[in-house]
Amino acid sequence: MSKKDDLIQAAIAAMPSAYAPYSNFQVGAAICDENGIIHTGVNVENAAYPQGSCAEAGAIAAMIMGAGRQITALAVAGRGDVLCTPCGGCRQRIREFAGPQTPIYICGPDGLRHTFTLAELLPASFGPDNLS
Ligand code: THU
Repeated sequence: MSKKDDLIQAAIAAMPSAYAPYSNFQVGAAICDENGIIHTGVNVENAAYPQGSCAEAGAIAAMIMGAGRQITALAVAGRGDVLCTPCGGCRQRIREFAGPQTPIYICGPDGLRHTFTLAELLPASFGPDNLS
């Protein structure tokens, strides 16, 4: 399997580990970092709804803990007919560690559905460069 396939399969495999008792919408995310290491995350909901966190946020936290600092590719997996694209807040979280051409693989339980670049999901973004 290619690294891309590994990443997609890691996001799909993470899905059942999500804690999503309120939405029943389990999401898995997988990041490949600059060292070629894959970091995964899932959504973790909370009875106080706004305190829930997205799968992408969990995967970013895992990457930072694993000493990764760059997202070279990211896969997100969720069920349903509509593409499970990262929410607006997560697009900005991803932006902190990724470039405009970073691929974002949107997957369903059966595999890849669509590929976006980060720039397609978050055009004209504000990022670390703005502060330098
Ligand atoms: N969710 C994610 O974890 N990532 C996405 O890309 C879209 C939405 C979660 C948040 C919430 O726990 C559930 O999916 C329903 O919105």
